[in-house]
Amino acid sequence: MKKLQILPQTIFEFHCTPSLLENAQRNVENLSWEPNLYTQRSQDIYLNKNHLFDDLHKWFHECLVRVKRSVEYEATDVKITQSWANRADQGNWHQPHKHPNSIFSGIFYLTNSDIGTTFILPSIWQTYDSKDGKVGQPFENFLDDSISLVEHVVKEEAGKLLIFPSILEHGVRPNQSNMVRYTMSFNSFLCGDIGSFGNLSGLSLDIK
Ligand SMILES: [Fe+2]
Repeated sequence: MKKLQILPQTIFEFHCTPSLLENAQRNVENLSWEPNLYTQRSQDIYLNKNHLFDDLHKWFHECLVRVKRSVEYEATDVKITQSWANRADQGNWHQPHKHPNSIFSGIFYLTNSDIGTTFILPSIWQTYDSKDGKVGQPFENFLDDSISLVEHVVKEEAGKLLIFPSILEHGVRPNQSNMVRYTMSFNSFLCGDIGSFGNLSGLSLDIK
């Protein structure tokens, strides 16, 4: 028997300049942190409005515009709505989740580790479900079932940015090393003139 992997999907990867990365690393290490379930997030959850991160968010925006063009979403612009940092000490992990009220989300890696980000989709074999649902299970159990779920781990690398659809479920496996793992995340939404007024699908939206 041969197993065929079919229907590949696309997400987007970018790499920033060394100076953007160094500034971001320095600024993130100086942030204050609070617990977020099994991991930690920055107290400042509006880093997109924090001037220390202006240059970085300008670059995030350029990448978002390229993604918007590539997937041919019809809108004047796309804007970051919230942006925050994540810190994972030894033992920390992040349960599988989606980002509500967002079109594109981003993960920016500030450190190198072998953890990466695990993206998850229901398998086509999940259409017939003879087992108990796995939703809400701890991460390790959640990923146990290779029949009902398709997972893909994207490797992390300092300076790498991933942009993906916000409805794509993803999580972070436990940090088993004593190195602190830092990332930044952001959400975004289409804005300006969206869709086609001529086809009665238009929407004008301002994001503050
Ligand atoms: Fe996330």
